Amino acid sequence: MTDTAATAATATGTAAAIRGRLLSFRRAPDGPGDAGSYRLIEDGLVLVEDGRIAAVGEHADLRGRLPEGATVAHHPDGLILPGFIDTHIHFPQTQVIASYGARLLDWLEKYTFIEEQRYADPAHAAAGAAFFLDELLRNGTTTAVAYGSVHPQSVDALFAEAERRGAGLIAGKVMMDRHAPAALTDTAESGYADSKALIARWHGHGRQRYAVTPRFAITSTEAQLEAAGTLLREHAGVHMQTHLSENAEEIATVRRLFPAARDYTDVYDRFGLLGPTSLFGHCIHLSDAEMGRLSETGSVAVFCPTSNLFIGSGLFDRAALARSDRPVRMALATDVGGGTSYSMLRTAGEAYKVLQLNRQNLPALAAFDLMTRGNAAALGLESEIGTLEPGRWADLVVLDSRATPAMRHRMTTVDGDLEEELFVLMTLGDDRAVAATYLRGRVAHRRIG
Ligand code: GUN
Ligand code: ZN
Repeated sequence: MTDTAATAATATGTAAAIRGRLLSFRRAPDGPGDAGSYRLIEDGLVLVEDGRIAAVGEHADLRGRLPEGATVAHHPDGLILPGFIDTHIHFPQTQVIASYGARLLDWLEKYTFIEEQRYADPAHAAAGAAFFLDELLRNGTTTAVAYGSVHPQSVDALFAEAERRGAGLIAGKVMMDRHAPAALTDTAESGYADSKALIARWHGHGRQRYAVTPRFAITSTEAQLEAAGTLLREHAGVHMQTHLSENAEEIATVRRLFPAARDYTDVYDRFGLLGPTSLFGHCIHLSDAEMGRLSETGSVAVFCPTSNLFIGSGLFDRAALARSDRPVRMALATDVGGGTSYSMLRTAGEAYKVLQLNRQNLPALAAFDLMTRGNAAALGLESEIGTLEPGRWADLVVLDSRATPAMRHRMTTVDGDLEEELFVLMTLGDDRAVAATYLRGRVAHRRIG
């Protein structure tokens, strides 16, 4: 794979270009074989200006628009897509991933609530942020929606690192004012004030956006959930992220803590936390009424398959959530460190298996749409990221379908069938299948070898 690019795109205003096989989705595929849902250009060119896509098309048609002297990053063996988007991941859990043998509430107490205390230290948070961004980019993920720890300095460190690299994150400090170690709790008042200050510092700063982040109903008092609702009302355009209906013991605890609420979803609903910028991780054990409420409010259910398998939480019911009379918007995510991989390819592969166990399916086209355009739409950011279209940020991933001996061997039986190739990528692929990642048209990761 040749790559002569990196320098051409660095000077502001200088167009650079990336050449290869281009794949971008137009809309959610209706099912396997829906060729109208995407655009594939066998020898395509993405022209970049000031970090954004200026034009996309056939190399033969566009090469004449390249400015004199511009270098082209050519990936003749690569499949180039918009960078992957991870809609739910925990920044302070990079050393919690792969912790043995616990269900959700024990897992939080035994591992997570210990580890997250270390993020009070800005130096630890800064080192963690560098690792976190490296790992995302190595896996072709160019945008992530991240939980910080309770400490505002953890989110400062994360946004600063993202800004330094040219990546756009959505992130927030977790609000938690009970049922956690004292070193890891805020109060309704301080959680509100710290979140508000972070919004002022980071929301709309460069590419960064804020998400108000009450961790989940168990760790927030009513006063804190009220404060989270106030923050949302006061700051149009910020996101909200939390966990919902992940595990049976969690749901029973929420019922005990909020006896007046109709159900778990209603706990959040009462405080104005549902809506089109609200992301609810897991959503595994919802009733029909709860799905109806998520649908009515345009809220997003985030499917985290590797986490749901690893923590033993249950099987996401995509078909029930998609019911045509009350469809719920959906997204896909890793949920590291409950999740076991930073790779959206691995995540899609495990999503397929979870749905198989539920007698459902996930066609490769749907999976790749979800990782790119679909997740962008779930975040309301489809005019910024998720497709290869003029005006979008030039955040790209270059995939190598023959990255490993097993993939190469399997690919010898794939005769130009795009869907089969994508299915090989999501079933056998991981960070090894990411040849390069671009942020704003600049190389942000390049695989060695
Ligand atoms: N529920 C509350 N906090 C967490 C967390 O950190 N991970 C997961 N998977 N679920 C949660
Ligand atoms: Zn989570």
